[in-house]
Amino acid sequence: MRFAGSFTTRLSVVAVLGFQTHLTAQQRYLPIDVENGSRLYRSNCFACHGPEGNSIPGVDFRRGLFKRVSDDDDLLRVIANGVPGTAMPPTAINDSGRFALVAYIRSMSESAKGSGDVVRGRALFEGKGGCLACHRVNGKGSRLGPDLSEVGAVRNAPYLERSVVAPAESILPEHRFVRAVTREGSVIVGRRLNEDTHSIQLIDQDEQLRSLLKSELREYTLLTTTTMPSYQDKFSPAELADLVTYLLSLRGLESQ
Ligand code: HEC
Ligand code: HEC
Repeated sequence: MRFAGSFTTRLSVVAVLGFQTHLTAQQRYLPIDVENGSRLYRSNCFACHGPEGNSIPGVDFRRGLFKRVSDDDDLLRVIANGVPGTAMPPTAINDSGRFALVAYIRSMSESAKGSGDVVRGRALFEGKGGCLACHRVNGKGSRLGPDLSEVGAVRNAPYLERSVVAPAESILPEHRFVRAVTREGSVIVGRRLNEDTHSIQLIDQDEQLRSLLKSELREYTLLTTTTMPSYQDKFSPAELADLVTYLLSLRGLESQ
């Protein structure tokens, strides 16, 4: 089998390089292969597997979740032969195309894990960053900001990085702050948790859960600002990578 041979040769060259220079996991494949793979993925696989690689139940390229594939050789085989008896078709494509697809699929899960160090990231989160002053992770910290215990399961690396360096850019509707003035004139500012036609529930500045009836309010405004400061100048790029890697590792129950 010609393709198996050429693939193995290429892999072992990469393995030796990795051993000598301690390349990070992300550099295991050449960027050019990942790029070619991305192109091939878009034209051959995207329609079924989706942009994030998680559209098929039980298969998730970002999380490295497969049904029966365990190594790169299995991946190459599945791409060539499909999975008989399922909608996964064989793909007629040459060796380097298949290799590029594997490189791309692997890169999806590697960038999903982050390029930094989880332990250092956690130290920054709890120490220098002071993130627990507003956020809660697995029962520890504050409720002023959203609970981040599962943030790694629902957000990707670029989004998380933007959240830290430019928080005001990306406030989700469910994390908006509200300012309410009661009939008696007291002002309550807090993070909105729920809202229906008659009432709103929020976490106020003392971390207390408050439920307010709209009919008893004199004023009610949805704020477009956030209390989260930008960390643009506080972290070096390496620290930011560590922090994002830590956030990506937070996957709620799944990670425990
Ligand atoms: C017509 C839809 C379709 C297309 C196109 C498609 N797939 Fe799939 N793929 C599937 C389905 C469905 C499964 C799940 C098969 C099963 O149940 O085991 C799957 C499974 C897989 C798996 C996982 C096998 C396992 O054991 O977990 C890999 C890897 C995969 N596809 C890669 C690709 C690649 C790469 C391409 C593009 C070259 C591609 N697929 C194109 C539908 C598709
Ligand atoms: C002063 C309070 C405060 C501090 C300190 C703070 N945050 Fe936040 N953070 C918030 C609030 C409020 C939100 C929700 C509104 C928004 O998106 O800005 C938020 C949102 C986020 C989000 C987006 C969550 C999502 O699901 O979209 C992330 C990620 C995040 N913060 C990470 C951090 C990290 C990491 C730190 C420490 C380096 C930190 N925050 C420090 C208040 C804070």
